Amino acid sequence: MTSNPVVSFHKTTTNETGTLVVLTDETLALGPAAQALGVADLVQKAAATSDYKGKSLAILDILAPAGLTFDRLVVVGLGKAQELVEGDWSRLGGAIMGALRKAEAATLHSERPDGIAIAGEQLADIGLGAVLRAYSFDRYKSKGKKGKDEDKAPKPPVTLDIVAAEAGKAKKAWAGRSAVADGAILARELVNEPANVLGPVEFAEKAAELEKLGVTIETLTEKQMKKLGMRALLGVAQGSSRPPRLVAMHWNGSKAKEKPVAFVGKGVVFDTGGISIKPAGGMEDMKGDMGGAAAVVGLMHALAARKAKANVVGIIGLVENMPDGNAQRPGDIVAAASGVTIEIINTDAEGRLVLADALWYAQKTYEPKVIVDLATLTGAIMVALGSDYAGMFATDDALAGALSKAGEATGEKVWRMPLGPAYDKMIESKFADIKNTGGRYGGSITAAQFLKRFVDDGVAWAHLDIAGTAMGSPQTEVNRSWASGWGVRILDRLVADNYEG
Ligand code: BES
Ligand code: MN
Ligand code: ZN
Repeated sequence: MTSNPVVSFHKTTTNETGTLVVLTDETLALGPAAQALGVADLVQKAAATSDYKGKSLAILDILAPAGLTFDRLVVVGLGKAQELVEGDWSRLGGAIMGALRKAEAATLHSERPDGIAIAGEQLADIGLGAVLRAYSFDRYKSKGKKGKDEDKAPKPPVTLDIVAAEAGKAKKAWAGRSAVADGAILARELVNEPANVLGPVEFAEKAAELEKLGVTIETLTEKQMKKLGMRALLGVAQGSSRPPRLVAMHWNGSKAKEKPVAFVGKGVVFDTGGISIKPAGGMEDMKGDMGGAAAVVGLMHALAARKAKANVVGIIGLVENMPDGNAQRPGDIVAAASGVTIEIINTDAEGRLVLADALWYAQKTYEPKVIVDLATLTGAIMVALGSDYAGMFATDDALAGALSKAGEATGEKVWRMPLGPAYDKMIESKFADIKNTGGRYGGSITAAQFLKRFVDDGVAWAHLDIAGTAMGSPQTEVNRSWASGWGVRILDRLVADNYEG
């Protein structure tokens, strides 16, 4: 992993060397600090001889401007300044980081040409976007391949000094935002890591490292899960030589008697499909089938690191889905810990089996008022929504609304899909209470409807199907890695806006 850039905020600067970054809108006007640098003419001229029109996130790169103290001027477009929305600030930070060469110090004059001050939270979002953009997963690239000179000494991290009127407020906001950046990067690290390195036990150990931040950890072994009757989860795990784990992480930032919000994650460290084995093409991507669990761990990191004033519990079910002499078969019937019996039709519909017992455990142990689960659950959600929106299924309109809002604000967007009794019919089994697949149509919905059978009445519940957004999703201004860390930002925001204070 590349080391994170060092972001800091300042009211003024004396450093006018190295790389300077200034902002313009579509009028190509500069703010006062940038004007004081004497670069207005230079920007106009460079724009006139290029395609730069100040459009949102456009870059105008002016190398070695003659007669000035700095050696590079990067101009970044804000588009129409009056049309800026909340999510644009982290994207702006990402675009700025993308324009900087590696191992370089840069100073950003963060001001709007229309004279409106950029708020502390917005400045912190610029920093968040910059840090997220700089991440890459290159642990397994041999050093020699990265270029000879790079081997000699580890490069210092990029430093980004952000100069802004609201620097004081930005510093305060940055304490929280940098915690979120670290959480999202932790989630990416877990998803990018291959399954030979990160099995259920190793994943559980990574989660347990949150103890350092004051998170309480409880890890259930196979034996303990057997005792609790978690046969749905265990049935998935039984084909693997690596034993399963269930990890509960709690962060108690609020009053002891306050009921927690629970986040539950699917943690299939590798999904071969089991006996209903997947085709070979693209199967390597199934190392990311623990994206839900990774997001929950990243979220708990963020909440603890920023000392969120909320009681939150994160629960992850960690298994490997393998074909083997001991593997579960189609036709098998298992009883989940809740007592519901399940006929296994397809062993590749394993995520819902893991979640069934994880959801039950969350409710009987912590009596949460709200549960949000995340899972790379169905290929069908990618057919329905592509990779820009995650699928959201919810039993509670207020929770659905709050998630939509948090998604728009952070850029991790959700699109609500239906639940309903008609879909229950599709998962009726000939032999058991329910079966684990619902046929060809509405695959994401029948999966969600299956999960709902394990959620108690009266609990506000939402399920996020992140198969399209957690991994292999398109490159964005804030992510160039295969794993996006999807879920940490939206859920951190959900907690901040709804369950704190
Ligand atoms: N982990 C997969 C879903 C998935 C597919 C995630 C592609 C990310 C990318 C899940 O366990 C699965 O195999 N689902 C099946 C369900 C089917 C057997 C009912 C699917 O989507 O095909
Ligand atoms: Mn599967
Ligand atoms: Zn899976």
